[in-house]
Amino acid sequence: MTIDLGSTEAGSVAQGLTAQPGKVAALELRNVNASYGTTEVLRDVSLTVPAGSATVLIGANGAGKSTTLRVASGLMKATSGDVLLHGEPVNDMGAHKRAVRGLCHVPEGRGVYRSLTVKDNLIMQAPKGTVDAGIEMATETFPILGKRLMQKAGTLSGGEQQMLALSAAYVRNPSLVLVDEPSLGLAPIIVDVVFDFLQKLRSTGISLLLVDQFAIRALGIADNAYVLRRGRIAYSGDAATLLQGDMFEQYIGEGSD
Ligand SMILES: Nc1ncnc2c1ncn2[C@@H]1O[C@H](COP(=O)(O)OP(=O)(O)O)[C@@H](O)[C@H]1O
Ligand SMILES: [Mg+2]
Repeated sequence: MTIDLGSTEAGSVAQGLTAQPGKVAALELRNVNASYGTTEVLRDVSLTVPAGSATVLIGANGAGKSTTLRVASGLMKATSGDVLLHGEPVNDMGAHKRAVRGLCHVPEGRGVYRSLTVKDNLIMQAPKGTVDAGIEMATETFPILGKRLMQKAGTLSGGEQQMLALSAAYVRNPSLVLVDEPSLGLAPIIVDVVFDFLQKLRSTGISLLLVDQFAIRALGIADNAYVLRRGRIAYSGDAATLLQGDMFEQYIGEGSD
């Protein structure tokens, strides 16, 4: 199914977002509400990740960023609203099936199999016939992983675990990657490595939805941005616009919440 991104009926993009006309969005959330028990966390969240773009989701702690990614990947069900993956409604589809359709969610806290070796973590993710290439890619991109191949993932440093989580995501050959706080708790030099890799991901045409505390860095590699404030979308538009002083101050800087 091909959906015109400009249409207001289906596959639409929020106004002002950079999109590739004629291409169906990689991900779309439409008027999504989500709750933990009786606590409403997401309220009427609409968000689009145009195919081949990088979109960043920014917000204070507890704003609902991780929940948004969980609803998108199928780890959590929306109480109402729609999730579309490459134009296909996936509300009733579990996380595994969404993964088969190209979605990869790298959760906060890395999401590696701690009791498996680095190598086995990569082998688990690589589609048949691509294992060697996947390991080669991971170890070329992150040479330190090459030295740690037979080490259990749980014994890696935080930065190494993040490199493994991102490599494992990449070897799955996804079309859409959701990354939650990849730079959390990492030394500045490792943060650089992580952002370089995210840029590499997007340069291969993979669509990216990124949540990161380093708003300026994240906006710097993104086309589009959303700001989530207490479960509602407070801003949607160009990432570059949000980097402008007054906009940044209003939505991200001190006193923005
Ligand atoms: N498993 C959970 N059970 C109950 N409440 C939760 C759970 N996870 C998150 N919350 C609450 O939902 C809100 C949004 O959380 P989250 O999506 O993790 O925010 P963010 O990622 O923006 O910090 C917060 O108020 C948080 O306390
Ligand atoms: Mg979070």
